[in-house]
Amino acid sequence: MERGGRAALALGLLLLLLLLGAMLALREPAPARDEARGSGGVQKTFRALLAAGREQQQQQEEEEREKDPPAAPVRRGIFWSRELEARVPPGFAAEEAAAWRAAARGARVASLERGGCGRSSNRLARLSDGSRACVRYGVSPEQIQGEALSYHLAGLLGMQQRLPPMALALVEARGRQWEPVREELRGSHWAEGAVVSLTRWVDNLTAVVAPAPWGGGRPRTLAAGELSGLPAEQLVELVQWSDLILFDYLTANFDRLASNLFSLQWDPRVMRRATSNLLRAPDGGLVFMDNEAGLVHGYRLLATWDPYNEPLLRSVCVFREGTARRLAELHRRRNAAAELRRRYRAREPLWEHLGFLSERQAELLQARVDFVHRHIAQCRAQAAAL
Ligand SMILES: Nc1ncnc2c1ncn2[C@@H]1O[C@H](COP(=O)(O)OP(=O)(O)O)[C@@H](O)[C@H]1O
Ligand SMILES: [Mg+2]
Repeated sequence: MERGGRAALALGLLLLLLLLGAMLALREPAPARDEARGSGGVQKTFRALLAAGREQQQQQEEEEREKDPPAAPVRRGIFWSRELEARVPPGFAAEEAAAWRAAARGARVASLERGGCGRSSNRLARLSDGSRACVRYGVSPEQIQGEALSYHLAGLLGMQQRLPPMALALVEARGRQWEPVREELRGSHWAEGAVVSLTRWVDNLTAVVAPAPWGGGRPRTLAAGELSGLPAEQLVELVQWSDLILFDYLTANFDRLASNLFSLQWDPRVMRRATSNLLRAPDGGLVFMDNEAGLVHGYRLLATWDPYNEPLLRSVCVFREGTARRLAELHRRRNAAAELRRRYRAREPLWEHLGFLSERQAELLQARVDFVHRHIAQCRAQAAAL
């Protein structure tokens, strides 16, 4: 009985073990299912987090948009939006520029130094009012005439804020203005009685590389359809470039983008290098420097440079509305040269020393104003047809 009882107990234990084993075997896939459920859970959580992240991002973007709405960069098909124009760094304000020009005319030249102002005939001047100026001496008087007339044409076009303030001065070693630097003048080889230009010194200027429409060699068209998705910073720069290209076409200035395009023949990377005579002020605004090639020299070399300047003009189909309006007015009244002369004579006491444009040059200026005006009208027609 005792043996039989033990055997029954052993059998019972065995059955219990088998049952436990079977139960364990049945439970075996469970961890895998849990794992699957678990990873599904992780995925779900991750998706939920992503969604929450996206929601948060969308909300942030909405808030940004409320603060800073991305209005269309172009209005009425061809004009930069008011928002973009308002973002352009102001440059040299008209009243400040006029005040500097008056002060520079009345000031004495306290020192003249070589270096810092380009070619060896130029000088860096310290004036008795505390300001500094680059003094440009033209090998030919037409260079100074070009510089001065271009400066005042920029005023007529409403883009003078992009040019450093400029005044003419008469080199007179015995005169009050130059008396402190008589010695330096002797070493400068400047002719007595020559007219030089004083350009207000601007600190911390940096180089400017042409942006996309012109940076890749042959200019592409800068039109409303090409601008979507560009960041505001780039658009603000393009606003200034649109003025620059019109200005250089009107003055036939070859010594900026056109000369870079010309150099493409032997330097395929030239458009990725700094643009001649264009600099950037610390506030990001462009500074149209050295305009001596404009109007006089440029008009003598039209045949050479228009093959570059004309495609550049055609590459711009978005404009500052104020620039287009002024050009339309000068076109309608046919008085571009007369207005320039009036302005030049009113603002530059030494104008008579250099004289004004010849009849022929005056006609060329009007013809170029008319040409730009027609180009703007074509861009408007193209935009309307889209
Ligand atoms: N008003 C100025 N303020 C600051 N830097 C200037 C100014 N004028 C000229 N420079 C400096 O001198 C360089 C050459 O000037 P630029 O007027 O082009 O002379 P150049 O007669 O040699 O062509 C400019 O690129 C700039 O670095
Ligand atoms: Mg230069």
